Amino acid sequence: MSNVSSEPVVPGAPTPPDLSGLPAGFLWGAATAAFQIEGDVEHRGRSIWDRLCERPGWIVDGSDARVACDHVNRYRGDVGLMRELGLDAYRFSVAWPRVQPGGKGPLAASGLAFYDRLVDALLEGGIQPWITQYHWDLPEELQDAGGWAERDVVDRFTDYAVSLHAALGDRVRHWATLNEPWCSAWLGYGSGEHAPGLADHRLAARASHHLLLAHGRAVAGMRAQAPADHQLGIILNLFPVRMDGVLAAADVRRVQDAVDRLDGLQNRWWLDALLEGRYPADVQALLATHLQGVVEDGDLGQIAQPLDFLGVNYYHDAVITAAAPEAADERGPYPGMSGVGPAEPDGEATSMGWPVTPHGLRDVLVRVGREHPTAPPLVVTENGSAWDDGLDDRRRVDYLYRHLAAVADAVRAGADVRGYFAWSLMDNFEWACGYSQKFGLVEVDFDTLERRPRASFAAYRHAMDVSRPPPAPAR
Ligand code: GCO
Repeated sequence: MSNVSSEPVVPGAPTPPDLSGLPAGFLWGAATAAFQIEGDVEHRGRSIWDRLCERPGWIVDGSDARVACDHVNRYRGDVGLMRELGLDAYRFSVAWPRVQPGGKGPLAASGLAFYDRLVDALLEGGIQPWITQYHWDLPEELQDAGGWAERDVVDRFTDYAVSLHAALGDRVRHWATLNEPWCSAWLGYGSGEHAPGLADHRLAARASHHLLLAHGRAVAGMRAQAPADHQLGIILNLFPVRMDGVLAAADVRRVQDAVDRLDGLQNRWWLDALLEGRYPADVQALLATHLQGVVEDGDLGQIAQPLDFLGVNYYHDAVITAAAPEAADERGPYPGMSGVGPAEPDGEATSMGWPVTPHGLRDVLVRVGREHPTAPPLVVTENGSAWDDGLDDRRRVDYLYRHLAAVADAVRAGADVRGYFAWSLMDNFEWACGYSQKFGLVEVDFDTLERRPRASFAAYRHAMDVSRPPPAPAR
């Protein structure tokens, strides 16, 4: 423990949590994603999200990401903020359509040049770059060929990922292939809330396999060319799925079955494939008709590549309750969910309407190691909350501190967690919610693009200072 005072930074604000037990060298970071912050669309190809933004009524505030935070032009200032915050690491994604417009062919030097400059600025500032290769912005030409629902995308992604690693791997040691493939598959092709905005269980099931295969092939390709100190991984959004505590006796069985199915689709499908080289039998049975002819011999072996870290994104847990009337199964966002739905949060909720459930983060981190003893070390690659509180965002500080406490709790309970990345460094384009939801430690004024650190910025810095070992005494 350091000699930094553990008093709150702002009088009356929450005090930093007990972070004892975090391993030495625990990595403190913040995360963003290309489409959400970059802007500068005129210098890149189009993605499925550009197209979705043009669909009338799709983005709640009618906005798009053409300018976003204008990060491409303001990255120097943003790296300055990261230094002020005291980050060890910054997780960002590369826009596939910026470095390989159209999704095939040689990488574009002009697109790569931006990431070159960003990486150099980070390294000069003593901040480790952590690259995510795919954070949902598929080149739209690849969607025109079927996108993640068609097997051909596996080769396209592998080619892009391996080429990108070859181009930046001289300076970037940390690489994650995909961000939250569950969202790409089930929100993109199942519920249709995310790009490409399709609602078809068959396409979603196919996408979920092709995403995993693309990850595995990309890791194998990168490993073959990577120096020994490179760390390769993937990022999943995991959450405990629970049954509502107050249910009519007649509903219990149905809801419990749905809980198991959702846990299977959301958590076990990805963990079992990546860490054990098999799909869970119950989920495979659920998706059997959709997956006919999709999973080929040898695919699972290619998916289960050795990994150096597993990124876990966590926002809240899920409570499932009975819902009436029963929707026809094929019209629900996921198969096997008719007659059930998410329970309304009964306690505190963020402006997204998401419940504040830090214990779920602890549980999920502990669970991975218990169920998969050979799992690689874990890193919390995203965690954060949206509020409409301006600069004095004590509720964000409270959320942050309670979740940091949950991470430390998980470590004391045996979870191997090596780092934490706050979502997000700054307010940004929150997908279908546009700019209406604010996740930033830094407020962005979207009229002037001015950045203003919030109270949570200082509070996060303070928590890092408290947890870091004191500097060695001068001799
Ligand atoms: C995610 C997304 C982020 C979101 C965040 C808040 O990976 O889920 O990576 O892009 O902005 O989750 O919804």
